[in-house]
Amino acid sequence: MASITQHSAAPAEQVLDNLSTAVLVFDHELRLVYLNQAGEIMLAHSARHACGRSVHALLVNPEVLVEHLARAFTEHQVISKRGCLLELPDAQALRVNCTFTPVIESQTVQLELRQIDHHLRVEQDEALINQQQATHALVRGLAHEIKNPLGGLRGAAQLLERQIKDDALKEYTRIIIGEADRLQGLMDRMLGPNSLPVMQPVNIHEVLQRVRELVLAESGESLNILRDYDPSLPDLYADPDLLIQAILNIVRNASQALAGNGEIVLRTRILRNFNIGTRKHRLVARIEVIDNGPGIDDELLKKIFLPMVTNRTDGTGLGLSIAQSLIGRHHGLIECASQPGETTFTILIPLEDIA
Ligand SMILES: Nc1ncnc2c1ncn2[C@@H]1O[C@H](COP(=O)(O)OP(=O)(O)O)[C@@H](O)[C@H]1O
Ligand SMILES: [Mg+2]
Repeated sequence: MASITQHSAAPAEQVLDNLSTAVLVFDHELRLVYLNQAGEIMLAHSARHACGRSVHALLVNPEVLVEHLARAFTEHQVISKRGCLLELPDAQALRVNCTFTPVIESQTVQLELRQIDHHLRVEQDEALINQQQATHALVRGLAHEIKNPLGGLRGAAQLLERQIKDDALKEYTRIIIGEADRLQGLMDRMLGPNSLPVMQPVNIHEVLQRVRELVLAESGESLNILRDYDPSLPDLYADPDLLIQAILNIVRNASQALAGNGEIVLRTRILRNFNIGTRKHRLVARIEVIDNGPGIDDELLKKIFLPMVTNRTDGTGLGLSIAQSLIGRHHGLIECASQPGETTFTILIPLEDIA
């Protein structure tokens, strides 16, 4: 019979590091004295860097924890809170379930944080990635099926046109040729740029600068495009033209939603140990385009990245589906969240492919 003492017991620290729950320990001055590995990932801080700091320095909204930490200290009892929203200094927000356990001997409070929307976000990301791939396959297949016979149709109409002497009849062949060209153009736009991407180190802020200039030039004076950049963001390994196209489609939509009157924020941040779908990346560039326009209703939001989905009379509904597919070529993803007065498109691109 196997004995349970066969393996030496793992040190407590190692056990804590193996937990998927973040464990934070605070002293009575509400300074962090311990952080396990899951906690480092959640807070995007190393224990070395974070320990010794006050809870006030760790969060933008420390009050959500302060009250319960203080209560755990004074009342000596375990407190559980569900669904707390923690705002981190890097502008990330996490929804967590918290358990505060006072440890009387060491005069500390042990805080366990379990992220509740992590799985939900992974699921949503996976759905978007599947949609991205399915859309791409569908559009490619369809475009291929349509483009070949279309070429034949156009050629035949041209031949016919040469045989016809009657100008009134020629009008019909002209219609066939004109419509064939229109369809061809639509197919090309649906396919997006068909050249192979030219990958190179790209400074994302230069890309954003180009997009900002272009959108400002085509909109009126009352559009404000603010910049909130993280200058420490390293270069991306990307095709700059494709990135410009993708981000331009998003910023242009924001400008159209604002009818040229309002505010767009371009925000860049670096995320550590961040998931895009089920894949965890060591470093991810996050580019947010936030506008204070009317927002997108839930029904439209569910299908916004599908081709031909549009709310504008002169829209093609291709802008976002092309943007999603271009970012997909960089192994990234675009997510969207919206409420009236605040619509955020978040572009996530992994950074580790850089040489
Ligand atoms: N920032 C935004 N605010 C409000 N609605 C938006 C925003 N971005 C996109 N939309 C909506 O998404 C739809 C699809 O956008 P898109 O794929 O670019 O196609 P198009 O711009 O041709 O309509 C738009 O018609 C618009 O209704
Ligand atoms: Mg558009």
